[in-house]
Amino acid sequence: MDLHLTGALPSSEEEAAVDKLLGAPASGWEGGARRIGSDDRAAFGGHAKREQRHMLLPVLHAVQARIGWISAGASNYVAQRLDVAPAEVHGVASFYGMFSLSHRPPVVAHVCDDIGCLAKGAEDLCKKLESKLGPAGSPCLNGNATWQRSACLGVCERAPAALTTAAGEKPRERVLAPADAAGVESLLRDAVAGKLPAEPDELNLKLSVPQAGNNDLHLLRRIGQGNPASLDDYKRMGGYEALRRALDMGPEAVVRELNESRLLGRGGAAFPTGKKWEALLKQRSEGRLHYVVCNADESEPGTFKDRVVMEGDPFALVEGMTIAGLASGAHKGFIYLRGEYPLAAERLSHAISAARAAGLLGENILGRGLNFDIEIRRGAGAYICGEETALFNSIEGYRGEPRSKPPFPTQAGLFKQPTVVNNVETLINGLEIIREGGAAYARVGTANSTGNRLFCLSGHVKKPGVYEIPFGATLRNLIDLAGGVGGTGRLQSVLLGGAAGTFVSPKELDVPLTFEGTRAIGATLGSGVVMLFDDSVDMKKILLRIAEFFRHESCGQCIPCRVGTVRQHEVLERLASRKPLGSTPEEMKLIREMGQAMRDASICGLGQTASSAVESALKRWSLFE
Ligand SMILES: Cc1cc2nc3c(=O)[nH]c(=O)nc-3n(C[C@H](O)[C@H](O)[C@H](O)COP(=O)(O)O)c2cc1C
Ligand code: SF4
Repeated sequence: MDLHLTGALPSSEEEAAVDKLLGAPASGWEGGARRIGSDDRAAFGGHAKREQRHMLLPVLHAVQARIGWISAGASNYVAQRLDVAPAEVHGVASFYGMFSLSHRPPVVAHVCDDIGCLAKGAEDLCKKLESKLGPAGSPCLNGNATWQRSACLGVCERAPAALTTAAGEKPRERVLAPADAAGVESLLRDAVAGKLPAEPDELNLKLSVPQAGNNDLHLLRRIGQGNPASLDDYKRMGGYEALRRALDMGPEAVVRELNESRLLGRGGAAFPTGKKWEALLKQRSEGRLHYVVCNADESEPGTFKDRVVMEGDPFALVEGMTIAGLASGAHKGFIYLRGEYPLAAERLSHAISAARAAGLLGENILGRGLNFDIEIRRGAGAYICGEETALFNSIEGYRGEPRSKPPFPTQAGLFKQPTVVNNVETLINGLEIIREGGAAYARVGTANSTGNRLFCLSGHVKKPGVYEIPFGATLRNLIDLAGGVGGTGRLQSVLLGGAAGTFVSPKELDVPLTFEGTRAIGATLGSGVVMLFDDSVDMKKILLRIAEFFRHESCGQCIPCRVGTVRQHEVLERLASRKPLGSTPEEMKLIREMGQAMRDASICGLGQTASSAVESALKRWSLFE
């Protein structure tokens, strides 16, 4: 930190990384030879540069991708170029798990040890890597590489997973799943030699979408049926018919169809989508800028459906966002994409460029007077940035800390302007609603949960992957569809909704997978996670990992969550290490009381749900007795 204040200087490579993104500085900058001073502010344009603060995350990404870490000198240069105080740059950079502020080799394998991978041998994989390459975080391969443990990488259907990143002038990223120690080591060697191979797509598709090609699919219908990089293939499969129809209908009619469909958001909070779009449309005459933000952060452990859609059908998201832009009067859309999704980033940026080149994005879309364009912003490893207002702060170049609501995003969202924020799956449902009509869409499912839903099956299930089923099927139906219980074949528990969700027992498999059905048993669908654990799994370890996750991911802004997540983890650690096992009624009461305090007094959903999975498990099983 001192270095920031005393003016550490950037290397020429660090400067080049920043300049490549921001353009060369106008004048008055003499490379690394000068210290930061007030004169530089004038040279770089003061106020005008401060308006570029939203470039902070992209610039930090650029430095990290080129060098492998962010030095104090690089930070200072970024601060100067964007006219943001060095301490602020440090504060933002240190918020995000993907940024390293201490020296690190350029090649890193991030090995997931989160719950889905834990159930599929992550601990064993980490032990083997330790014996082959040395302890996590230590340099290996002559100091050119390292490996480290990571939170969920969103590839749970192919667990255990690892992501290798190689910094340099042409940075590379590559996911390996399923991963074994030899595979990780071999990728590290390839990356050090400058030849990290691309992912084999076909194999991944078979493993990720077991229903691919099935005629009953709606949301997943195009996946695997064409080249995801081809706009022609997308159009051949009905792509852009919905946008044409929406343009014919006009924004008011599109919103009417959405309301009639009774589509509820698929990001976890289940808010009516039509109501959000309508709220923006009503403000159209006020002359403020409107934004559509696609929440593609997908950091809930066990969730991977949005990744599969973005990798397998990227044009659908582009078209879905364009319809949302039309219906809400927005001129600009942002996709806030999980930082750990390199293939989705590549596919989406290609789709955006191809759509732009074909007149399907930009000015006067299809010659119909609609102006709308999309930009991708990559997250940097902070679960809390999936919370919609934290996400806005992140795009704006601040720490991803949630804002108090109200005002709601539809009133003052991104850049304080009216904003629609929707999940990837929600936005692609919009295409189906325009195609079929809202009333027809609402006939599928139940009265309160309409349409089809994507579920992320992982853990001990025979055929893990993303599944699409109409609302109303039971958990048992879904597990049967996925081939039944895997592993030992004896089911111990199912985690519904992710780390922020609820454990249910084998006695509860007849719960209907609807918003109301899960609510009736005190559970939640959340982001569609269905993670199975067989009877070989030590559930204490799973609970400890969940508690550790929340402790790490709390943004620390409010006390109940900041303190509660730490204490919850500490109590569980104490109970799990006690020999022989045994807990007192006071300890169990303490866990419940802490959960209640977090639920009642936390600002955002992270604190409010941080004890949900833990408490649900302790209610069903005597794990510490
Ligand atoms: C801690 C936290 C993490 C979240 N992560 C995500 C996420 O990764 N993706 C998502 O769509 N919604 C996420 N949400 C919910 C969003 O705040 C928001 O409700 C959602 O993006 C709205 O889109 P929808 O109406 O289409 O569901 C998260 C909420 C919280 C509290
Ligand atoms: S509840 Fe937790 S994550 Fe949410 S604002 Fe408070 S401290 Fe941050």
